[in-house]
Amino acid sequence: MEINISPFNKKTSKKTQIKIMFNLISKRYDILNRIITFGLDLRWRKNLVNKIKPQNPKIILDVATGTGDLAIELSKTKAEKIIGIDISDQMIEIAKKKIRKKNLNSLIKVLESNSENMNFKNDYFDIVTVSYGVRNFENLNKGLSEIFRVLKPTGKIYILETSLPKSPILLFFYKFYVRILTSIIGILFSNYKLPYKYLLNSASIFPFGDDFNNILMKNGFINIKNESQILGVSTIYFASKP
Ligand SMILES: C[S@@+](CC[C@H](N)C(=O)[O-])C[C@H]1O[C@@H](n2cnc3c(N)ncnc32)[C@H](O)[C@@H]1O
Repeated sequence: MEINISPFNKKTSKKTQIKIMFNLISKRYDILNRIITFGLDLRWRKNLVNKIKPQNPKIILDVATGTGDLAIELSKTKAEKIIGIDISDQMIEIAKKKIRKKNLNSLIKVLESNSENMNFKNDYFDIVTVSYGVRNFENLNKGLSEIFRVLKPTGKIYILETSLPKSPILLFFYKFYVRILTSIIGILFSNYKLPYKYLLNSASIFPFGDDFNNILMKNGFINIKNESQILGVSTIYFASKP
């Protein structure tokens, strides 16, 4: 299955293209997310954090933290330290502003770092989260094996990622919606056309459900479960390091 499509189809690496792309769309990323998902993305991040709360993690890593929405939501756990990492400096700048505004600077630190080659020691984090990040990794297995490495034994990974509705009727409407959305964004913001074409197309081909569970299993995770969110257009995966 071809999952490694890139935003601009240029000769530079996917990682470089992803960084350029998110830098380009960073200022409108949050508002477009709210519009495209009708605000449901906020609910899905909340659902993920609600699963984490009862476990009382002390140190959490939010990989591909972007503008920091999940890292900020994670502040509702009793964590003592939350670290967010991302390769896009512009997304991080916005995350930092939001964190400062909410007076969460002492709890949440955001760093520019690549999830496929992290500067953290082995067995360090209680929990690692990734929301809408894994499908943008240049090398998915490398990213997942790095997360595995930095998690403590019995630590857990929580991933929120796009998926496709199971019902053929819903799938038809979903694909129709994506096509219309790509055209509207292209008309309103011409320089966002390729980024959003990539974001929406990659959501349509990225492995989900059992296929993604299998990828987690191949990377050493156990007790793998997934929960489809409303309409099946996003899924929460959770699994443990043995
Ligand atoms: C769709 S955004 C998701 C942001 C945020 N987690 C959210 O829920 O809105 C994907 C983010 O993944 C980041 N990203 C992609 N590949 C990465 C990598 N290898 N290491 C760290 N961040 C990465 C991008 O820069 C971008 O900010």
